[in-house]
Amino acid sequence: MITNEIYPTAILERPEKEILLQQKACVIWLMGLSGAGKSTLSHHLAQKLHEDGFLTQSLDGDNLRTGLNNNLGFSDVDRLENIRRAAEVAKLFLNCGIIVIASFICPTHTTQNMVRNIVGTDFVEIFVNCPLDVCEARDVKGLYAKARAGVIKDFTGIDSPFESPQSPELIVNTHQNSLEECIQQIYQLVLPKIKVS
Ligand code: ADX
Repeated sequence: MITNEIYPTAILERPEKEILLQQKACVIWLMGLSGAGKSTLSHHLAQKLHEDGFLTQSLDGDNLRTGLNNNLGFSDVDRLENIRRAAEVAKLFLNCGIIVIASFICPTHTTQNMVRNIVGTDFVEIFVNCPLDVCEARDVKGLYAKARAGVIKDFTGIDSPFESPQSPELIVNTHQNSLEECIQQIYQLVLPKIKVS
């Protein structure tokens, strides 16, 4: 509900928008190999946050690459641009008071550092950790098999590098912990940051 104190004269800035939404915004960025579980975690985290009354926006490689970033492939240069645009979009939502859940591989320290620099404060970096052989065995989208067969080139972990994030706020180990446990770990980290006291 918009109150008289801030409407209609004021142009709403982030703090006022956060008051409207009754939440504090942040960008929760899930990084990790394809098949590590980023999308699954993102989906369940969004559901849990919505149940608790928070407004979120999910961004991921699969949805941005079909629209805004549909001119980009998987070369180093294109990945950097993909992540740069994603980070800028995340920042727009952040400044609107919305909690962003972003899931992108972010394969190199360069991409990981760029995201942190673009988003700035209220950035929560989470490494979704899972060994390559487990991701490959899962092969949910069948892409690892194609990469091994040489049908897909520059596939992360196969013929394109993945550098583990150096200073994430949290590492969730999806090969060792259940989905519920990983969500709980993320939720415990995030809740104090987004809750209005
Ligand atoms: S990133 O490297 O630029 O961060 P992004 O997260 O957007 O990648 O996209 C990754 C998704 O694109 C994967 O989950 C997979 O479904 C798909 N994909 C298609 N080709 C590749 C590739 N060569 N390397 C990695 N992922 C790929």
